[in-house]
Amino acid sequence: MAGVVLNSSLMISAGKLHIGNVEISPNLVLAPMAGVTDSSFRRLIKELDGVGLIVTEFISVEGLTRGNLRSHRMMKFLPEERPISIQIFGHDPGRMAAAAEIIEEAGADIVDINCGCPARKVVNGGGGSSLLKDLPQLEKVLRRVRRAVSIPVTMKIRTGWDDSTINAVEVARLIEDCGGCMVAIHGRTRVQGYSGRADWNVISEVKRAVSIPVIGSGDVTTPREAIARLSETGVDAVMIGRGAIANPWIFRQTSELMRGDEPHEPQLAEKRRVLYRYHELLAGEMPERALTGKLKQMCGYFTHGLPGGSRLRERVFRSQTITEIFDQVDLYFDSMIERGVPPDLQGSAADALKQPRDPKCAEFTRAAPAV
Ligand SMILES: Cc1cc2nc3c(=O)[nH]c(=O)nc-3n(C[C@H](O)[C@H](O)[C@H](O)COP(=O)(O)O)c2cc1C
Repeated sequence: MAGVVLNSSLMISAGKLHIGNVEISPNLVLAPMAGVTDSSFRRLIKELDGVGLIVTEFISVEGLTRGNLRSHRMMKFLPEERPISIQIFGHDPGRMAAAAEIIEEAGADIVDINCGCPARKVVNGGGGSSLLKDLPQLEKVLRRVRRAVSIPVTMKIRTGWDDSTINAVEVARLIEDCGGCMVAIHGRTRVQGYSGRADWNVISEVKRAVSIPVIGSGDVTTPREAIARLSETGVDAVMIGRGAIANPWIFRQTSELMRGDEPHEPQLAEKRRVLYRYHELLAGEMPERALTGKLKQMCGYFTHGLPGGSRLRERVFRSQTITEIFDQVDLYFDSMIERGVPPDLQGSAADALKQPRDPKCAEFTRAAPAV
């Protein structure tokens, strides 16, 4: 099989994995991101190709089980998004199980339990990463959810609560014992939030400790990094979050590289088309006001590292309407295309991990540190 050789000892080919009875191919996963991975964004990523599994934003089990409209809307997906995993958060085993039943009924392929969210509101309610500190509760939740549904149940965790309580291996073994079908690990502790670098050594230890599929997450921003993490750690798949906002072609590029092909390099005109397509997808889903915020967020991530990108972000941020936003976008891309900016100056996904310095642009990354 064709594959890519990163150096003499690292070689990898496109792979697939099974989560329960669900086949995931290729082994590249869109990370769950609150405020980002709604149906429009997920479909955009699917259209650009190369992704094996997508995960929704996390959804409150309180909202789902009490009939909250917003939570139910967040659960909606279209057939072209399959295979899809719906992520829930909470701490009460009964409610978690009831929410999982709702999700199964909605036709999801997989239900995922969030054990990684660091946000105070979630942690104080006993959910998210606080479950990493209360393994008896985590066990109760998982066993109850497993009994309630027949679709695969998975968990997304962090490496531990803080540096002195790294327990991802113990947690992953518990997940396996309780019948969890996969564990995804973001290589940071709860206390770290999004600071520092993701620790892929811990992810690699987890991979060696369990026989269920292990998916690694954290700081993958280029196709070569994705392939390197797969190869060095042996994880069954890599999950990409912020890198996919800045470069939604990253899954396609990684798949191509794994096949031994030259990765597609989108030019400026194509980047602009993708912004328009994202707008089209959003317009079918939400009113203009909400849509404006989402577009600003996307423009913000999308133009990091582009020459003149910060000026464009400021102008986009000051825009009041969709028309004004696209006027600015068009002005910018027209002038860039005219000047013939070479591809290597057309922005890098690594820039997506940087926060914008201009506080006025905070809206672009407002959701980023929250989960
Ligand atoms: C804006 C944003 C929202 C996130 N929301 C969620 C979430 O709802 N559930 C979850 O498990 N992780 C969430 N995460 C964490 C990501 O899934 C991922 O594990 C983390 O960002 C590290 O991967 P990356 O460096 O590829 O972004 C979120 C991350 C970001 C940046």
